[in-house]
Amino acid sequence: MQPTVIAPSILSADFARLGEEVDNVLAAGADWVHFDVMDNHYVPNLTIGPMVCQALRRHGVTAPIDVHLMVEPVDRIIPDFAAAGATDISFHPEASRHVHRTIQLIKAEGCRAGLVLNPATALDVLDYVLEDLDLVLLMSVNPGFGGQSFIDSTLRKIERVRERIDASGKAIRLEVDGGVKPDNIARIAEAGADTFVAGSAIFGHADYRQVVEEMRAAVAS
Ligand code: DX5
Ligand code: ZN
Repeated sequence: MQPTVIAPSILSADFARLGEEVDNVLAAGADWVHFDVMDNHYVPNLTIGPMVCQALRRHGVTAPIDVHLMVEPVDRIIPDFAAAGATDISFHPEASRHVHRTIQLIKAEGCRAGLVLNPATALDVLDYVLEDLDLVLLMSVNPGFGGQSFIDSTLRKIERVRERIDASGKAIRLEVDGGVKPDNIARIAEAGADTFVAGSAIFGHADYRQVVEEMRAAVAS
């Protein structure tokens, strides 16, 4: 199991004050910045691209930027995100014609590579690529929007992915994204996750430090 990471999703931040929001959430104890990229094609929403990632780096953000690509096709945008300062890049297998090639492309660009599984995606996609991955990102909502409710069947899925990661003997992170809150994060951690994305639960809270500490304490208990 990897050390716990709390990764606030900036999808729920105030985009008019993004640099300040990211500074504040990192000062409050968050570990990574989760950066949701939506293309109005793979998912029915449109967000931000490499220019915004680069702007955060120029603003002085040094924390890992965990780019979650909900973009189809995906390969062409990967070098742009690597150049813009992404440290981790995850993609959905449905959005790539050649999943193994996309993983290798992310690594060749110097980033850690992640594969994202939607709530209904079977674990088979991991069969021949798990050992090439740095992280598995399990969606616990359908991708496209913040503020949705956690889908409980994800808990069983987390357990099964945890077994596979442990059996591989590799240092692969198990990240969970969607509806993660202080009141369910302990169950998600018990199931085997070590990396937690939370958007509305953190940015919707008046005190970022309090909610980040509450989440970290719940994981540790
Ligand atoms: C959904 C995104 C998530 C989302 C999480 O497609 O990938 O990262 O912003 O938001 P909450 O924590 O509000 O479910
Ligand atoms: Zn995400």
